[in-house]
Amino acid sequence: MRLSTLLLFPGIFVCVLFPLTNCEEQRIPEEKLLVVTVATKETDGFKRFSVSAKHFNYTVKVLGRGQKWRTGDYMSGPGGGQKVRLLKAALEEMKNEDTIILFIDSYDVVFASGPKELLKKFQQARHKVVFSSESLIWPDRHLEDKHPHVIEGNRFLGSGGFIGSLPNIRDMVADWAGEDNDSDQLFFTNIYIDSVKRKSINITVDSKCRLFQNLHGALDDVVLKFEDGRVRARNVLYDTLPVVIHGNGPTKLQINYLGNYIPNTWTFETGCTECHEGLLPLAALKESEYPLVLVGIFVQQPTPFVTVFFERLLKLQYPKNRLKLFIHNQEAHHERQISGFLQNHGSLYQDVKLIAPKEEMERAASHNLALDICRKDEDCDYFFTLDIEVVLKNENTLKILIEQNLPIVAPMITRAGRLWSNFWGALSAEGYYARSEDYVDIVQGRRVGVWNVPYVSSVYLVKASLLRLELTDYELFNSDILDPDMAYCHNVRNKGIFMYVTNMHTFGRIVSTENYQTSHLHNDLWQIFENPVDWQERYIHENYTYIMKDKLIETPCPDVYWFPIFSDVACDHIVEELEHFGKWSGGANTDGRIQGGYENVPTIDIHLNQINFEKEWHKFLLEYIAPITEKMYPGYYTKALFDLAFVVRYKPDEQPSLRPHHDASTFTINIALNQGGLDYQGGGCRFIRYDCSVEAPRKGWTLLHPGRLTHYHEGLPTTAGVRYIAVSFVDP
Ligand SMILES: *[C@@H]1O[C@H](CO)[C@@H](O)[C@H](O)[C@H]1NC(C)=O
Ligand SMILES: *[C@@H]1O[C@H](CO)[C@@H](O)[C@H](O)[C@H]1NC(C)=O
Ligand SMILES: *[C@@H]1O[C@H](CO)[C@@H](O)[C@H](O)[C@H]1NC(C)=O
Ligand SMILES: *[C@@H]1O[C@H](CO)[C@@H](O)[C@H](O)[C@H]1NC(C)=O
Repeated sequence: MRLSTLLLFPGIFVCVLFPLTNCEEQRIPEEKLLVVTVATKETDGFKRFSVSAKHFNYTVKVLGRGQKWRTGDYMSGPGGGQKVRLLKAALEEMKNEDTIILFIDSYDVVFASGPKELLKKFQQARHKVVFSSESLIWPDRHLEDKHPHVIEGNRFLGSGGFIGSLPNIRDMVADWAGEDNDSDQLFFTNIYIDSVKRKSINITVDSKCRLFQNLHGALDDVVLKFEDGRVRARNVLYDTLPVVIHGNGPTKLQINYLGNYIPNTWTFETGCTECHEGLLPLAALKESEYPLVLVGIFVQQPTPFVTVFFERLLKLQYPKNRLKLFIHNQEAHHERQISGFLQNHGSLYQDVKLIAPKEEMERAASHNLALDICRKDEDCDYFFTLDIEVVLKNENTLKILIEQNLPIVAPMITRAGRLWSNFWGALSAEGYYARSEDYVDIVQGRRVGVWNVPYVSSVYLVKASLLRLELTDYELFNSDILDPDMAYCHNVRNKGIFMYVTNMHTFGRIVSTENYQTSHLHNDLWQIFENPVDWQERYIHENYTYIMKDKLIETPCPDVYWFPIFSDVACDHIVEELEHFGKWSGGANTDGRIQGGYENVPTIDIHLNQINFEKEWHKFLLEYIAPITEKMYPGYYTKALFDLAFVVRYKPDEQPSLRPHHDASTFTINIALNQGGLDYQGGGCRFIRYDCSVEAPRKGWTLLHPGRLTHYHEGLPTTAGVRYIAVSFVDP
């Protein structure tokens, strides 16, 4: 035998050289293997099975297509006599007696490796029929003692997967005469515990899960092992790498989790967008041909930054005449913002439906109604649910989701600085949240892909065809025990429909609705603690973060620094809030005591503690002013303590200017809340020692200067209009 021939037949090579070792008979050619499964319906689970079978080049024969499934809900999977009847009939027609049959379920099965490995392990089992094994006995516990003992591993068989040679399997099912609703598991168990039949048919169980892994009762024994860009489920109890993974029993969903890692299934890892067959590229379409989407917006509690939500909705990249809006508002507090948005922009959308708080519609009812509007509207292609607390930073979100072409898909959103996300990785046995092994990696973006998950919420896209064909029940969100979102996902799962979450892009986050006060005019100003990221985006000047890097800080007078700090919106909100509050005070009281901000010079002002804003202001000083102070006055560290922080109003006929004075502070900040030369004339600040003035104050910019000794200063007269400045004496 030439060496090249030996290399072609490594099995034989080993036999020739080491005839006394555990040598195998000749390897079974892969073409001899036929996978047989029963699937009356092409569920998402079946499609996943098919994709994984195709990936590993299995040849699959599907029985029962289009037939009625007789043993209940198809989600419980083909289990039962009907499978045996169909198998028996199919085997009777098969001719090639050397065929190896792998009979398995498919709705909850994925392959983890190919035919070669499966056949090798089958041969190593040294039996003609090998059943998958279970650690738990069902359906009849009384049969336990009749089962043969095994040296190590599971004693009981599972009917959801077995492999064997055609004649032996044909023999095994020959006696089947049961009803379609009889238990196949019991039928095979009875054959197996009959020692005569067991021996004559030559049956064994794969007790150490070398070929088959049933996940029922075994979740803790199975871990995922990543290697060379591949992933295998590994049974750590027996140290085996099973080939067929079956998410049977109440753990059915765990197969989704494992299925996430089988290459080329419906989900994929980074950089593999092409391997997903079903993408629906929108770029090929004219805007007028874009799918019609009903956007359901749900306002279920008082929520910060609602105005920003609608600004963002307006920026969503999608033709607005291909969008319809359904808005359910349960909060009177937000009526002004929503009607403002609809008045200004509602007509851009193809249709708008608003359910106002006075209709007192409950959450589940409005979700049911919104879905039903899409279901019944034959133009509706998708339903896009969007809770008001969602911050969709990615303007292309809707397009990205549509292009995924999945039944239900959510963009992954998170809560800044927390492990919260709008999906669950796994479910507990009771159907509540459970953390999957990879949850943290997915939330933190260390694993990137489109993931099959058991629960999504807050923002997701649903295909309308699904609503018409599968999710036809009106009351999808109703439940006596579960909250509406959980009820909905429960119903989706029970229909065998897959839900996905993608973290292939950054999509956004969710705002916290906790500790949201509604007693002010601009409540969002108070959100610096609860939603610091949203607060910064809304209220801090867009160029603030560049002032150090790009040297944007100006020095108009010695040791006086001038830089952008507040956005226009922040300035407007502060002024409006104070005018709304209205209790401007100043000058000398009747008792002669000086009121107002400056201890020695009276001003017309409102102190920030009068509107309960001092804690928030301190946080603002610490976060945004202290770092600049420490840079500009090296060696000086501040805790940003202050006794006095107030907004001063200058008006020609009220108080136009302020006479020269020192401040009771180590340093002072003085933020212009409106625009010199536009909102008012004149104004500014003059530092007398240097005879240096800062005129035409810029809206949103602050002056930062030492308070005492050197920077004796005066407020220059405002000659027309009204000027507002926010002043803080820091470290008095
Ligand atoms: C499946 O078959 C194709 C073509 O015969 C081959 O290119 C591919 O490598 C095979 N895949 C596996 C996983 O063996
Ligand atoms: C079962 O079949 C194997 C060959 O696959 C054979 O070696 C073994 O003796 C058979 N066992 C029985 C009990 O017939
Ligand atoms: C199975 O179906 C038959 C009728 O087809 C019925 O009489 C019988 O009660 C059913 N058995 C079970 C266990 O559901
Ligand atoms: C921020 O800086 C850019 C570039 O200098 C400028 O164009 C823009 O107007 C600035 N933004 C504001 C709000 O001043």
